[in-house]
Amino acid sequence: MSKSVKIGSSQVTSTPLGLGTNKVGGHNLFDGLKDEDGKQVVKAALDDGIGLLDTAFMYGLGRSEEIIGDVIKGYDRSKFVIASKAAQDPDNNLQPNNDPQFLKRSVDASLKRLGTDYIDIFYIHFPDSNTPKAEAVNALAEEKKAGKIKAIGVSNFSLDQIKEANADDQVDIVEDNYSLVHRNAERELFPYLREHDISFVPYFPLASGLLTGKYTETDQNKFSRFSTEQYSAIMKAQTEVKQIADSHNATIAQIILAWYIADPDISVVIPGARVADQVHSNAKAMGIELSGYEFDKINDLYDLF
Ligand SMILES: NC(=O)c1ccc[n+]([C@@H]2O[C@H](COP(=O)([O-])OP(=O)(O)OC[C@H]3O[C@@H](n4cnc5c(N)ncnc54)[C@H](OP(=O)(O)O)[C@@H]3O)[C@@H](O)[C@H]2O)c1
Repeated sequence: MSKSVKIGSSQVTSTPLGLGTNKVGGHNLFDGLKDEDGKQVVKAALDDGIGLLDTAFMYGLGRSEEIIGDVIKGYDRSKFVIASKAAQDPDNNLQPNNDPQFLKRSVDASLKRLGTDYIDIFYIHFPDSNTPKAEAVNALAEEKKAGKIKAIGVSNFSLDQIKEANADDQVDIVEDNYSLVHRNAERELFPYLREHDISFVPYFPLASGLLTGKYTETDQNKFSRFSTEQYSAIMKAQTEVKQIADSHNATIAQIILAWYIADPDISVVIPGARVADQVHSNAKAMGIELSGYEFDKINDLYDLF
């Protein structure tokens, strides 16, 4: 059975694999999404024992939370964790707003859309330019005291902003861009997070699908942020990860997800999904144990990043 992960110094625990839901109702971010597919994605996660749903106001401007709220009516609320986020201000062109009163109103609005009386993890989605970070976090600490949320997170904060936010040791969790092909957080954030018992959740863990193995040499134009040299290294690594995957009777995506699960610096990995079959497949990563040799080998394959 999969390990249980504790979130910072909070009482919240989760499975090591969660579900990213920016393609559940996230019509403002992605084309061609259907609400019904989104519902099936959330159902698939809960049916497969995935214990964390990562959502945000920004995913469909509330629609993702509403879809999740609809689906979870049929499930035992004590069996899974919901993480949501706010900062984008609908009354100011979605500019980041960390004002304490705005954050408190956002918690209430998320609770309503989700149809639940508590949110396990609530993140400040993006920093704004003027609110002192400790004041923003204090607002969430008050929501925690009131029982509306159970753990406090920040997302897309620089190390200095995290330090400021965590002045009173109240930050439980940080979510930031991280994957085997985007490893800056290892150098920039992990030492501080480790030292302060703050959990880390990587977003874009599959590099938006690139690390699933479904792309080939001819798809480089879809991933313009990588140089030709970097893209070739990713394709070469993919061939080697495929060999490890074959020996586990697994897919490349499952092996990559199992690698994050094995990494002690990573708390919960939250791959997103467009359709339920992707969720069913990704959930199986929780049953894969990599050997130390395989873990190190995969680590080295992506050492360019
Ligand atoms: N805090 C933040 O600012 C922030 C920012 C971004 C994301 N997030 C969160 O992080 C989560 C993860 O990021 P992400 O979803 O953008 O990227 P991701 O997890 O790197 O990639 C997910 C995408 O890969 C494809 N995919 C997933 N499983 C697959 C499989 N088994 N086989 C083939 N393709 C598969 C799907 O897209 P296609 O089918 O369309 O290829 C899916 O939507 C999000 O859902 C969201 O909850 C947070």
